[in-house]
Amino acid sequence: MYIATTIEELRGRLSASKRPAFVPTMGNLHDGHIALIRQARTLGDATVASIFVNRLQFLPHEDFDTYPRTWDSDCEKLRAAGCDVLFAPTEKVLYPEPQTCKVHPDPALADMLEGHFRPGFFIGVCTVVMKLFQCVQPRVAVFGKKDYQQLMTIRHMVRQFALPIEIAGSETFRADDGLALSSRNGYLSKDERAEAVQLSKALRAMAEAVRAGETDLAAIEARAMQTLAQRGWQPDYLVLRRRADLREPTPGSQGEPLVALAAARLGSTRLIDNLEIEAVSAS
Ligand code: PAF
Repeated sequence: MYIATTIEELRGRLSASKRPAFVPTMGNLHDGHIALIRQARTLGDATVASIFVNRLQFLPHEDFDTYPRTWDSDCEKLRAAGCDVLFAPTEKVLYPEPQTCKVHPDPALADMLEGHFRPGFFIGVCTVVMKLFQCVQPRVAVFGKKDYQQLMTIRHMVRQFALPIEIAGSETFRADDGLALSSRNGYLSKDERAEAVQLSKALRAMAEAVRAGETDLAAIEARAMQTLAQRGWQPDYLVLRRRADLREPTPGSQGEPLVALAAARLGSTRLIDNLEIEAVSAS
């Protein structure tokens, strides 16, 4: 695996590639990231990963400084997965001057849910992804569905700016008990790790209620919030939204594909997850 730390090195190395397939990451790689690399390998003629902990997408009180940086094991995992090129710029390389020119994604999509609880988050994400896209110039990029709103926001950005990049979504990788893999799972204590599975269980209960024909979605959401709160979680949201645009489902409509989305804090760790629900046809 070739490691490029500058944009020039990266572009030089990729100059012969006709279809680079790109997986942007913030490092601390787990099996979920490796699944993205494996998918990328099937989609392009050179597989490129990036590791960059992007300051712009962290709020001042968030975990930018303590975000796990695990360079050696990340490189080992990427090599074993068959990644061809790793782009690992320093902050000086990616942001040589204050990044005052930023990408502001569509507020209708980016200001709700994660964007509501983490204001500016998607501006930071879209700005770095746009910049990484300019550096790598991929033809295809792979993002995990675990960050569902992020995937939708990036797809929208790519469409609106007519970027010649195909965005592929990858299914969420889960531990045996159902917990979605995340770099932040490493913050959980042993007891918290055992409890963490309740987030995906709450999403499954929401999905089952919809499938069972329950139509009062607000009641389903309130029940899920209450279940987690009673177990000691601090939920930000557990909601049922339209898959098409993450807006609230049309009242009475039963044909819309939905997604259940959740974010909740367990101790000091904030976890997110989601579950797609197939359309329920009206009986
Ligand atoms: O999903 C992530 O790890 C990050 O948000 C991304 C896409 C690498 C941008 O920093």
